[in-house]
Amino acid sequence: MAGFLDQIEPIKQAALAELGAAADLAALESARVCYLGSNGKFTALMKQLGTLSREEKPAAGKAINNAKVELESALSQRRADLDLKASLPRDPTDFTLPGRRRAVGKLHPLTQVTEDIVRSFRKIGFVVADGPEVEDEYYCFDALNTPADHPARDSQDTFYLGRTADAIGHTPGRLLRTHTSSVQIRVMQKQPPPVRIIVPGRVYRRDNADATHNPTFHQVEGLYVDRNVTVSDLKGTVEFVFRELMGSETRIRFRPHYFSYTEPSFEIDFSSALTRKMGKEWLEIAGCGMVHPQVFENVGYDSEAWTGWAFGFGIERIAMIRYGINDIRLFYENDVRFLKQF
Ligand code: DAH
Repeated sequence: MAGFLDQIEPIKQAALAELGAAADLAALESARVCYLGSNGKFTALMKQLGTLSREEKPAAGKAINNAKVELESALSQRRADLDLKASLPRDPTDFTLPGRRRAVGKLHPLTQVTEDIVRSFRKIGFVVADGPEVEDEYYCFDALNTPADHPARDSQDTFYLGRTADAIGHTPGRLLRTHTSSVQIRVMQKQPPPVRIIVPGRVYRRDNADATHNPTFHQVEGLYVDRNVTVSDLKGTVEFVFRELMGSETRIRFRPHYFSYTEPSFEIDFSSALTRKMGKEWLEIAGCGMVHPQVFENVGYDSEAWTGWAFGFGIERIAMIRYGINDIRLFYENDVRFLKQF
């Protein structure tokens, strides 16, 4: 009996020393197995308890239980210490280092180009106007003198919406606007001349998406109405803005064209280092013309007293030429590897 009790203390001390010295959780586990595992040294001692006599057992049992409790608490204490140590950074934290910075976002290239266009026009006294993207057929076509057989009015080309009666029982045809020109009418209906507006905005057409088409894209409309406004004002204004946007050596030229809301009408081509880089001297960039007298009459302006011009161009096209982008769909994919470049 005395022999048995004498064995407890040295084994316990050795176990305590090894548990306490375990440098990590793996070392702690092997120390545990060595003493408290099923073939462990301390476990072997507990097994001997059965061989003791009835009289010896109570004192021996008590002694070995106390030792076991002590070992288990040492084990869990050491495990908690090592767990904590494992969760802490290896290197001490240097609180004087600069903080981690959040990357600053950027404006989308189309937004940047739109803002540049708006900024140029503001310099010469234009203000920004806005209108709805879900538009009445009247504003998109009829008021713009666009005849019923015009291809833009075909359902192959335009997104029409279902007809619903309004408060006074009319059922106007409604559609996603095919161009920003509808805003010309909305603005002129609301204010007397003079007018000097630009209208950046989203427009919709039934095009299949490919490298140069997308069913949704953006335009900028311009409208200038005053007394004695001429084509040379139009040309000078467009030239000023395109030189700001595309470089000071940019040239523009007008080619006769047809739009139902302008007379005469033109297409605008421009030429610059950017067009030459694309292998072309001249690139078509916009439509424009002198506001048709019928359009003035439609909004209640006296077409004998007032003259004006209007233009419209696609923002994507300008951005593509400016940045050398060869696929319009890149603008809408929102891939940060693309967006980061602007
Ligand atoms: N609305 C035309 C289009 O979407 C562009 C346009 C041409 C606008 C002539 C105008 C204009 O204001 O006068 O292709």
